[in-house]
Amino acid sequence: MSTETTEVVGTARDRVDGRLKVTGAATYAIDVSLPGLAHAVLVQSTVTSGRIRHVDVDAAERAPGVLAVITHVNAPKLARGPMTPLGPSPLPPLQSDVVLHYGQHVAMVVAETREQAQAAAAFIEISYQADTPVLAFDDPRTSAVSHPWIPDQVRGDVTRALAAADVRVDATYTTAENTQNPIGLFATVAVWDGDALTVHDTTQWPHGVRDSLATAFGVDPVGIRVLVPFVGGAFGAGLRVWPHVTLAALAARVTKRPVKLVLSRAQMFTSVGHRPNTIQQLSLGASRDGRLTAIDHVATSSIGMADELLNPITPGTPESYACPNVSARATQVRLSIPTPGWMRAPGEAEGSFALESAIDELSYALGIDPIELRVKNHAHVNPQTGLPWSSNALLDCYRQGAERFGWSARNPKPRSMRKGHLLVGYGMARAALTAYQPPCRAVASIRRDGTAFVRSGATDIGCGPYTVMTMLAADCLGVPIERVQFGLGDSAMPNAPQEGGSGLTGALGNAVQAACVSLVRAFLNRVSDDELSPIKGCRLEDITVRDGGIQISDDPRRFETYGEILRRHGLDEITIEAESAPPGETSSTTMIARAGRFVPFTAPSTGARAHAGAFAAHFVEVHVDPDLGTIRVARVVSAVDGGRILNPKTARSQIIGGMAGGIGMALLEENVSDRTGRLVNTSLADYVVAVNADVREVDVLFVGQPDSMSPLGTKGVGELAIAGMAAAIANAVYHATGTRVRSLPISIEKVLGHESSSARTSSRVAAIAGSPGTASHEAV
Ligand code: MOS
Repeated sequence: MSTETTEVVGTARDRVDGRLKVTGAATYAIDVSLPGLAHAVLVQSTVTSGRIRHVDVDAAERAPGVLAVITHVNAPKLARGPMTPLGPSPLPPLQSDVVLHYGQHVAMVVAETREQAQAAAAFIEISYQADTPVLAFDDPRTSAVSHPWIPDQVRGDVTRALAAADVRVDATYTTAENTQNPIGLFATVAVWDGDALTVHDTTQWPHGVRDSLATAFGVDPVGIRVLVPFVGGAFGAGLRVWPHVTLAALAARVTKRPVKLVLSRAQMFTSVGHRPNTIQQLSLGASRDGRLTAIDHVATSSIGMADELLNPITPGTPESYACPNVSARATQVRLSIPTPGWMRAPGEAEGSFALESAIDELSYALGIDPIELRVKNHAHVNPQTGLPWSSNALLDCYRQGAERFGWSARNPKPRSMRKGHLLVGYGMARAALTAYQPPCRAVASIRRDGTAFVRSGATDIGCGPYTVMTMLAADCLGVPIERVQFGLGDSAMPNAPQEGGSGLTGALGNAVQAACVSLVRAFLNRVSDDELSPIKGCRLEDITVRDGGIQISDDPRRFETYGEILRRHGLDEITIEAESAPPGETSSTTMIARAGRFVPFTAPSTGARAHAGAFAAHFVEVHVDPDLGTIRVARVVSAVDGGRILNPKTARSQIIGGMAGGIGMALLEENVSDRTGRLVNTSLADYVVAVNADVREVDVLFVGQPDSMSPLGTKGVGELAIAGMAAAIANAVYHATGTRVRSLPISIEKVLGHESSSARTSSRVAAIAGSPGTASHEAV
């Protein structure tokens, strides 16, 4: 027997759930069918603001197959879901006659079939007293929201530094509302048994759904089970517990039947959040030789009339560059819009568009190469705290990415490079994602047949937790990967955070590793005085796990399998639960698994390091038709410091997914509203996302080292690529055309110099900025 063990972690592996997905065997909430299943359909407000004057449900109630029609008139009282670490729950549905936004749920029909419910819903007549909606940031009736999550950040004296700067850039940028649009329509199936409730849901947070429904209905969360084995994409739409989830449970409670509720595609635009639009003012000051002396970042974004939501547009800015004077402020303004939520790198995608566009503008104002400018101002330590980073390979990202991309072939002069008739542009941007790792629990078992079952109540929205956690558990336990099963998507499993903020791999992976290490230790304890065991009395430091068992590291003959230990001790299994805590909260030594051995990991002492998120440098080549203004992203190279990469294949998949999202955000995606605030492009024909034809050559390289603050060493790459991607594309468009577009999406009209007049975006923006996308460069 060999004593060499090789790690599965770090190798490119196919998804363990890939076959289930491509063969249609994976069951999503929308696929769940139960005996006696009834169907709920939602009716939504056609006005943007006002009150419901009258609802006539008589015809609907008499329609064939109808079991119940529920409106604010007859709906039971529902409590608002709990406060979460990221803000309060959305308002509970059908609790008053007040209409706060277009698309608000105002009635629900439950019937024997979905078609019957749909037909009956058309018979409901609602009259409204419509008010004038608040749709612009400068409407005197708006109010700014203050909440505790994004405090103003200031260091140094920005005003003085800007006044004294050799070179200045002052520019206003805008970003459009975007909608997540996962392929899978969100669905909820709810079944009550007394006060116990089972819910099959589309969510990124099973425990959040459990707790929210327990609060809404005033029942014990212990009796609620939320099942989410598969999610058909989410992109942030599943991070909050939206009113339709509560309504599905309400429908089941009222009709005493299992009920399925599926949102339509149009309803997906108004029911599960969206990326709010922003207007951002950036002022940069620099010395003639290219040292940043001042960054002033002011962001305004929209929020619903009765909501609070953490929207981190500016927090990345003070940490971005080694600049002595920085001010970053973000304000949210209440508008009569569907409740925003989080969408792929929420805030950071928008904030990085403004900051990284402005840095590019500064590079031209100074006549310095954009990479050189960024390298010159690289933050070698965290500039806000002065602490060394827990890891930071951003300089390698710049260097290696530039080399892979062929940046040296770039002629810095705008409009100077061509490929036949097409204008060619090279652009780049820095990307960073704030570190985020909430607490998480996992439980690990090894059974008498030698198989391992590791699980946690997390989700896999497509990022790969099923796969990477299976790999990780196989390594930590020394059990062949085919004999390891990883379970998730069940609130009966240990408490896991939402799969969001690119934080799940770290949170869950550290919990899985901790549970597996404790499980191996539990086996050692079991045989500590077992005369029949060849590994009797061994410590974790002495052993290697391999081939489904434990051996003494320097003596391959002293080995026994987990199954043998369990059989001899008359046990079916040993099960251990463990928790991971956010890095930096404690400094302690834990044992971690590496290549079958167990080695101590000592976290830096509390307050000694700045916990770094992931970093990247994105490089983009665009081709622009000078006559038609059409833009093609011909090539993207991203050099990524994601810390330890558990599976290069799924990690790369995350990055190219972010590239596709970034292409959509930069060039295509925009919620368009008419002047009354109604969304008009609520279909995938009218709301255009990047498809395969829009995503051409993509290349990802990973650089850097395991993060020193995480026992697992990962940093989280889920949302990294969409951060900075829109700026890299905009910068490439400027290089290609000489036209600086400061307003997303970069439409053909904007490239050709005819501002788009999308009603909502431009009217909201015009008020504050004068006009969208203004700028001045001043060399004093
Ligand atoms: Mo992401 S918006 O944290 O799902």
